[in-house]
Amino acid sequence: MKIEQNYSLINYNTFRLQVNSRWFMEYDNEEELQKILRDEYFQESLSLHIGSGSNLLFLNDYNGIILHSNIKGIEITHESGEHVFLRIGAAEKWDDIVAFAVEQGWGGIENLSGIPGEAGAAAVQNIGAYGMEIRDVIEAVETYNQLTFERKVFTSEECNYGYRNSYFKNEHNDPYIVTYINIKLCKNPQYCVDYGNLRQQLGKEEEMDLKKIREAVLAIRKEKLPDPGVIGNAGSFFTNPAIEEAHFNRLINRYPRIPSYPVEEGKRKIPAGWLIEQCGFKGKTHGNVGVHEKQALILVNLGEATGDEIALVAESIRMAVLEQFEIELIPEVKYIG
Ligand code: EPU
Repeated sequence: MKIEQNYSLINYNTFRLQVNSRWFMEYDNEEELQKILRDEYFQESLSLHIGSGSNLLFLNDYNGIILHSNIKGIEITHESGEHVFLRIGAAEKWDDIVAFAVEQGWGGIENLSGIPGEAGAAAVQNIGAYGMEIRDVIEAVETYNQLTFERKVFTSEECNYGYRNSYFKNEHNDPYIVTYINIKLCKNPQYCVDYGNLRQQLGKEEEMDLKKIREAVLAIRKEKLPDPGVIGNAGSFFTNPAIEEAHFNRLINRYPRIPSYPVEEGKRKIPAGWLIEQCGFKGKTHGNVGVHEKQALILVNLGEATGDEIALVAESIRMAVLEQFEIELIPEVKYIG
């Protein structure tokens, strides 16, 4: 167990904001987690459980306890002719899991290569990219209830997954801390390469394999997305909005080239990056904050930005898109403070 006071969170938020937490507590197993949660001081304090902070925007120092899992391990629990089932500690780096699966020849998560963050947060956030989402492979999510001190295993259905959403994210402030995720991978994978320019990046289909798909996804990401290890960012700042068909029809008259794709009945999704680009923000800088020059959906910390400055730029983007398109962008990034 690790307990630190006035702890810098620079390595726990991919925006690389210079913020501190009053306390930082990291547990290595469920027993240690239980010990922390049962502690009276913990129960009276403000607290927040985080992963690697790849989806967080700290608006100021955190005047409470930041809780972090160090539960690691990738274990094969069982196999069938077609599938292999893995139990993974919430603190494993997501991309290490993908690399391991691809190395073994197990399919189902190769398109999710290169996504920053840890396994537990990936399952909470329902990470997705290039036509795949983690929900497609989740069998179960093991949790610990910080109010009742009971373990609860959620089936995939009980996780109630949606686009970048799950039961664990919903606003009824659920007290569940993810300890392990259980996923199911395919021994004879079907490749899913129809998203955007993935097929083009891959070349001929007959030469395709999991390693090539992973490499192609990593190459596309490298070309388009800023590496948080080099320049602070939290990936897509907003989710892609879904609008009513009638609203879309009004827009297409004014913007015949508007990209879109159908989602649920009567709705279309518009890439938020396109909307932001149309409002003239792409590649622009505002003090210490930049709008990425290759993907307008990503805000970057140019070095010394504060959470407030990033939030201010996000707000002016939100207002501009609302005014020009009557579409309300919703942050994917979670504001803290
Ligand atoms: N576009 C623009 N200008 C831009 C950016 C995008 O016009 O500056 C338009 C283009 O038409 C492009 C389309 O938007 O074809 C889609 O762009 P892209 O393929 O980059 O995907 P996205 O919808 O912007 C989503 C996810 C990403 C994920 C990619 C690939 C969300 C909020 N974002 O972005 O996820 O990597 O698809 O699957 O759904 C993340 O969540 O942090 C993230 C990076």
